[in-house]
Amino acid sequence: MGKSQDLYKEAKKLIPGGTQLLSKRPEMFLPDLWPAYYSKAKGCEVWDLDDKKYIDMGQMSVGACILGYADSDVDRAVKNAVDKGNISILNAPEEVELAKLLIKIHPWAQMVRYTRTGGEAVAVAIRIARARTKKDVILFCGYHGWHDWYLSSNLADKKALDGHLLPGLNPLGVPRVLKRTSYPFKFNKTKQFLWLIKKHRDKIGAVIMEPLRHNQPEREFIDTIVEITKKLGIVLIIDEVSMGFRLNEGGAHLQLEMEPDIAVFAKAISNGYSMGVIIGKRKIMQIAQDTFISSTSWTERIGLVASLATIRKSKCYHVYSYLQNIGGQIKKGWQSTAQKHGLKINVSGTNAIGHFSFKHKKQLVLKTIFTQLMLEKGFLASTSFYASYAHKKKHVKKYLEALDEVFAFIAKAVKEGNPEKHLKGSVCHAGFKRLA
Ligand SMILES: Cc1ncc(COP(=O)(O)O)c(C=O)c1O
Repeated sequence: MGKSQDLYKEAKKLIPGGTQLLSKRPEMFLPDLWPAYYSKAKGCEVWDLDDKKYIDMGQMSVGACILGYADSDVDRAVKNAVDKGNISILNAPEEVELAKLLIKIHPWAQMVRYTRTGGEAVAVAIRIARARTKKDVILFCGYHGWHDWYLSSNLADKKALDGHLLPGLNPLGVPRVLKRTSYPFKFNKTKQFLWLIKKHRDKIGAVIMEPLRHNQPEREFIDTIVEITKKLGIVLIIDEVSMGFRLNEGGAHLQLEMEPDIAVFAKAISNGYSMGVIIGKRKIMQIAQDTFISSTSWTERIGLVASLATIRKSKCYHVYSYLQNIGGQIKKGWQSTAQKHGLKINVSGTNAIGHFSFKHKKQLVLKTIFTQLMLEKGFLASTSFYASYAHKKKHVKKYLEALDEVFAFIAKAVKEGNPEKHLKGSVCHAGFKRLA
């Protein structure tokens, strides 16, 4: 695989785990053949270290870039901020400008704080909720990052987090005294949520959930959570890190007509520049004055201007409906192409972030073969598609043509019963795993 895989082998000796984000490990895609590093990225195109060009019909930096890589308008705003000074002993006025814009989009919120990453923003929201309620227990649904408050749920039950995006997360190093301070409940499982409320009732400081990910929430699920948290004075946090500013302008909770106490954003809000946002009701957010929540890098200007430029451009060009349209075409393409070749797949997610999985034995082998064959055809692709404004008709057409051939091949391999023989390297990982 040329320079990229050579560099990755070196990286694994220098950087534990190889990369900074589990989802960017080559092992998650195509362990021995994934290009691993980029020299340049623009739109939905990515060049590896050997100058080979690929079209990203996969994760677009795990959803960070709704406008596409190196978007000219966002980058212009960032370059301007760099020229004027990214940081100083005085604060960036864009902190106030962005706060006003976010509150206008989310009229239920009155105050805003910033961080640099999604996980940090969630940790701030949890701190605020615990400070406000003086209660430690957290009920959660979905993925919320790497911090101690979240991983601690795996101290009491090794598999607690397995149904929440990433299986196998190891809580090693998380203080054992945090055992039994956070508990998961499954999406759309209202009875399970109510059971946890009954069991921990007086100890619960916050309920945190993603508004949706693979499936639409049932009305009863949403209404019960909103009603109970309100009744018991529990802080309700909606984690919009993956869904926010992707289905509509602002949080997906607006579409679901949910009114939380706090909502948290990152990723799509700033098109790939580091940014985390916490918005909330004044009476809850004010407590952030009484507990210490502070960091030098949270004062940088570039995340703020990137967010302002991303939100404004997305609105101006109707990017949110564009994403629904492009992503919808891909999801339909998966379904109809699979059907054509007699391949059984399960399609899930929203149009903006769609997923499919093979409903045959040796799922992971088939997933790896899919990525391998798509890569040979010039695509960075796996079983998820994160739509972006840079994905144009021509990319979709080319992708669906390639998909037709690849699904035909996989259908044949399934029928023959020994798909492994087509692998040119090892099988991709399904979740968190120590690297050899
Ligand atoms: C819903 C949700 N919350 C939190 C996070 C963590 O964000 P970050 O990776 O920026 O720390 C993610 C990341 O994928 C996410 O999807």
